Amino acid sequence: MSILKVRNLSKLYEGKVAYRALDNIQFDVQAGEFVGIMGPSGSGKTTLLNLLATIDEPTSGEIIINGKDPQQLNKQETALFRRHELGFVFQYYNLLDSLTVEENILLTLTLDGVAVPEMDRRLQEVAAKLGIQAILKKRTYEISGGQMQRTAIARAIIHAPSLILADEPTGNLDSKASKDVMETFSAVNEQDGATILMVTHDVLAASFCRRVIFIKDGRFYNEIYRGNNRQAFFQKIIDMLSLLGGDSHDLSSVRL
Ligand SMILES: Nc1ncnc2c1ncn2[C@@H]1O[C@H](COP(=O)(O)OP(=O)(O)OP(=O)(O)O)[C@@H](O)[C@H]1O
Ligand SMILES: [Mg+2]
Repeated sequence: MSILKVRNLSKLYEGKVAYRALDNIQFDVQAGEFVGIMGPSGSGKTTLLNLLATIDEPTSGEIIINGKDPQQLNKQETALFRRHELGFVFQYYNLLDSLTVEENILLTLTLDGVAVPEMDRRLQEVAAKLGIQAILKKRTYEISGGQMQRTAIARAIIHAPSLILADEPTGNLDSKASKDVMETFSAVNEQDGATILMVTHDVLAASFCRRVIFIKDGRFYNEIYRGNNRQAFFQKIIDMLSLLGGDSHDLSSVRL
């Protein structure tokens, strides 16, 4: 079953000079898939994610998430759609400093008025899964980057969204923390069947995906599947990126 259907998606940024950031993009993501999106700087990755996140609207084409078309929803319905169907993980975590780890994780459930015992049950479950039980009462400035990202993942999964969208989730982490975060994503994907779409420049992070879609100049370029050898997949991703060209930044984050 497709959780996400992207059909003939285009995005034109108006302005002094109009710019076609996405050109007829088309792909599906199946329930339980873990998909990476890669491409050179300026190829349209963040634009794509913003459209999927309902933060911005397409110029043409269609996005269907869990059978629903967010373009058909009014403002209030869109806010609810985002809160219920989607989970977000960002490069800079986007946690609220004034709240504890626990309060950050529970925010969506609080907004939805979920009963306290049920919130607590779910909190304990995700905290155990992410190994953050010991830091639940801490504030965000008292924990490490890797712990912040695991907190952000806990927040993104606690309401069991249809689709988790991640933009450069390892972009701000050292290699040890990146690996931890990617192992966490893998576990959430494999054990809970969460569907994840992740934009990344990081080849190691991408090698945890089951499939990587490459885009170039706003167009679908190619896609490759992992199979069961992550090491070999890592090399295939590097090969594809060098075929793709783009700036050297794209390979700067290669970690062996
Ligand atoms: N609000 C905007 N108005 C006009 N042009 C934009 C806007 N946002 C992005 N663009 C242009 O659209 C293209 C795609 O941008 P986008 O941010 O999606 O790239 P990206 O693949 O995320 O790049 P990076 O890897 O550097 O983050 C770029 O050429 C960019 O300059
Ligand atoms: Mg970007």
